[in-house]
Amino acid sequence: MSRRLSAVSYDAGSGVLLLDTPRTSYSAYVGREDHIPIHTYWGPPITAEDAACLAEATTERLASEWPCFRSPANGHEEYPLDGGVQFGRAALTLEFPGAVRSVEWRLGGHEITAGAGHHDLVLRFEARHHDLTVALHYRVHDDSDVIDRWVVVRNDSATDSVDVHRLDSAAWVMPEQERHRMSHLTGRWAAETQLRRTDLTEARLVLESRRGITSHHANPWFAMDDGTATEEYGRVYSATLHWSGSWRMLAQRDMDEPAQVLLGWGHEGFGPRRLEPREILRTPVSSGLFTTGGFGGASHAWHEYALRHVLPGAEEVRPVLFNSWEATGFDVDEAGQRALARQAADLGCELFVLDDGWFGRRTGDRAGLGDWWVNGERFPGGLRPLIDDVHALGMGFGLWIEPEMVNPDSDVYRAHPEWTYHYAGREPKLMRHQLVLNLARPDVVEWVFGELDALLSANDIQFVKWDMNRPFTDPGWPEEPDRQGRLWFDHVTGVYAVIDALRRKHPGVAFEACSGGGGRIDFGMMARSDQFWVSDNTDAVDRRHIQHGFSQIYPARTMSCWVTDLPTFINKRRVPLTYRFHVAMAGVLGVGGDLAAWTGEETAEARRLIGQYKRIRHIVQHGRLHRLGEPARSAAAVQYVTADRSESVVLVYQEAQQYDSHPRPIRLRGLAEDGRYRLDDGGTTLSGAVLMGHGVIPSLTGDYASTLIHLERVT
Ligand code: GLA
Repeated sequence: MSRRLSAVSYDAGSGVLLLDTPRTSYSAYVGREDHIPIHTYWGPPITAEDAACLAEATTERLASEWPCFRSPANGHEEYPLDGGVQFGRAALTLEFPGAVRSVEWRLGGHEITAGAGHHDLVLRFEARHHDLTVALHYRVHDDSDVIDRWVVVRNDSATDSVDVHRLDSAAWVMPEQERHRMSHLTGRWAAETQLRRTDLTEARLVLESRRGITSHHANPWFAMDDGTATEEYGRVYSATLHWSGSWRMLAQRDMDEPAQVLLGWGHEGFGPRRLEPREILRTPVSSGLFTTGGFGGASHAWHEYALRHVLPGAEEVRPVLFNSWEATGFDVDEAGQRALARQAADLGCELFVLDDGWFGRRTGDRAGLGDWWVNGERFPGGLRPLIDDVHALGMGFGLWIEPEMVNPDSDVYRAHPEWTYHYAGREPKLMRHQLVLNLARPDVVEWVFGELDALLSANDIQFVKWDMNRPFTDPGWPEEPDRQGRLWFDHVTGVYAVIDALRRKHPGVAFEACSGGGGRIDFGMMARSDQFWVSDNTDAVDRRHIQHGFSQIYPARTMSCWVTDLPTFINKRRVPLTYRFHVAMAGVLGVGGDLAAWTGEETAEARRLIGQYKRIRHIVQHGRLHRLGEPARSAAAVQYVTADRSESVVLVYQEAQQYDSHPRPIRLRGLAEDGRYRLDDGGTTLSGAVLMGHGVIPSLTGDYASTLIHLERVT
């Protein structure tokens, strides 16, 4: 498909903005009298004349609406403001002195700038009755149809503060369509990223996290279609939020009005967050995209955007890691870890990660969090001897930390109980025997950075698993009652600041984002991590559903997956080793079992599969992902194709054989139709047309059968 260049334009006379991405256009205009921006278009490319006509027609249409009891603009606003004639949920609710909640503004100006590979438009609105500016930012990229939006509020007053009750990043307006089917992700601990599709009625649908983390329970992503889109075809609108704390996604629709989805940080009723005199607050980015390529097309666009614009070092090939957690739990010591490391290296692992239990008095989950000194009984010479051994075995060394936490039974909590979230005179609730540190406090941020910097400076570490194992409760900050509402925002920016500073100072260290599994999976964390620990649930059957949901937006390059022991601690299921490997090979492969207990046969099979993964991982980690069938279908597959279509990998799974049926052909995608591909089954060579039009028939018999097919284009 021929590509056009991205561009932004704003016509000051008509107030029309037009954003062009390679394959889409997006348009809105600023109302002449009230200066309310009204959305008009999002879809395949249109011209500036089209955009001007749409603005005129929409102005006329809204002016002719019967004004009783309703606002004609409702649902059409680019960014709905609280106050005035506005009855839907607002994206912006500010409270000025005197309990005035209405925002009235006028356009103060606009700016168009260009950077490397992107173009930006800013519309700057000035509040009519206060010294305050609100800037709506738009960015388009030359190599993506994703549009980035964010908002910057500046309190220009030298004396008055303003309370921010709601400050969303964007409102995404859907076009007129018969139905509005919303795909979203739900779940819980050990069951993250479950895909659901639901019809929007004339009501509000709120998905949010009230937990201070992105959460296992919902993910800030949606895809909207008219009920007819499939994996390969159909018009799909999709958006997300680059944020790792509490958030809200609210879809609203009233009779005869468009569906509008607001996305922003902070759950409902979180605040307010006070904006001090002269303070500036910049929201996280909300990104949105339109595609005609169905749900698969939307995922391709998200994955490519993530790899090009979000993930640092996306071009790297992630190593096969071994993690000690399921093997040794809290029972870690130098000799035990050394033995595990030898076995892991023997399997072909490239990175050895020492999980929980190495620091403070951390011999179980009741003590030690916050005391980031090496436990001298378990590691008498510090971590160095183990690290040296791991390096001598040819592996990198990684370490688990949980920097936002303390156990009450820790030296740091005894010294600084005021550093945790709590209400004066109340006993804060423990979860997993731990409390959350107040990272909205600059002194705590500084302390956390100092501890981790010292750890990384004193030890030759290549990888950090950053965990976060409980949600916020008792969100109090008794020393600063007026600033209490800040914590939902400032904790997250505090975490970001620590990781960013550590990455700058220790560029050789990769980060894995973890929150009791997948409690903090989002583009905000991805921007400062190298991979996600997707779920504590390593049961291969459940995992395929979790991975299916994860893949809707997040790329396989960021999906860390381990093969662990039997029976899995969840479901107590026994799934053959090869099947478990094939499921984990769909992302960044890792191993997390007690290797001493593996039989010689298992070890040999694991070694073979790890070797095979190393040969194909560039396709999995950097190729385009195609979901071939829902995970519940037998046999369903995931396929990866390199950008030049010269190689592909297909992982096929059959959970259960039923009715004595034999596998049907699986039609592949994304290959060159006129190319010829050799299958690694002994030499069959087939054309792309046959592979995609007829398919390959996998040889699968019985339950938990799986296979990996590697295809190479022959010239
Ligand atoms: C969380 C993580 C696990 C493990 C434990 C350690 O649950 O998700 O992988 O690191 O903490 O306590």
